[in-house]
Amino acid sequence: MAGSKALPTFCFLLCAASCALAAASYDYMILSLIWPGTSCQPGWFWKPSCCVDPLIDNPERDFLVETMETYDSVTGKLVAKCEPSCRFLMNPLAGLTDDLNAYWPSLSCPAQNGKQKWKDAWCTYGNCTSLSEVNYFGRALQLRARADVLHALGSKAIIPSETKSYSLEDINDALVPRIGFSFTVVCTRNYIIWPLIYDDYLTQIRVCVSSDGRSIITCPNGRESNCGDTVKFPTVSYPLHGREDNAVSSTVIKLTSGDEMAL
Ligand SMILES: *[C@@H]1O[C@H](CO)[C@@H](O)[C@H](O)[C@H]1NC(C)=O
Repeated sequence: MAGSKALPTFCFLLCAASCALAAASYDYMILSLIWPGTSCQPGWFWKPSCCVDPLIDNPERDFLVETMETYDSVTGKLVAKCEPSCRFLMNPLAGLTDDLNAYWPSLSCPAQNGKQKWKDAWCTYGNCTSLSEVNYFGRALQLRARADVLHALGSKAIIPSETKSYSLEDINDALVPRIGFSFTVVCTRNYIIWPLIYDDYLTQIRVCVSSDGRSIITCPNGRESNCGDTVKFPTVSYPLHGREDNAVSSTVIKLTSGDEMAL
């Protein structure tokens, strides 16, 4: 009798111990969606502050995945780089490459394809999850589509504009019916006259996600927006692709004989 009771108790303790250990690791994630209108605003001297790979079609003019971070809700802290010998493979992502290029591109300069960015996301956060590569990336992309931030904003007449500003309250009110209290709006402050006159640009929407990457959840650790009362939401203009340059240089065709023929 005592034995049959002791066994489940023992199993419970064993589980409690391993669950306590597991609690030192991640138990939710934050999907960070960037607004390319802000990332690609011209910087100093109108130098582009974002670059796109000329060999890949331009990313969508929509909120794009920056990364999906792993968090511990007990400490509220990031859980990162769980496996020093992390390996990232492109093969498992073959079926996702088009979506990754469209919605999870690298915008850093000089232009590059997304591989380094995806590797960083996987080896910093993805490898800390219980998800396979294809599920980590695939679910992040699915959640981005499900949150559908651009449409949620648009349905409340918050549309990208070079001239208008929107109130942070209106932005919040547009998103709550769609994704609940699962998000934080992040801005970048651009000073016109420091420290008095500035514009806040919508930079990111950070969405809290369950540990299995299947659902959008209320954020376990509340975070305040850093935006002021009014927010700019600029239109997206990607830098020129360099395709024009390619077209010009291709007017000289190399012949197999080694002669060059100018067209
Ligand atoms: C993390 O990386 C290690 C080493 O490559 C691997 O053994 C482990 O399965 C990875 N974890 C996940 C969730 O894929």
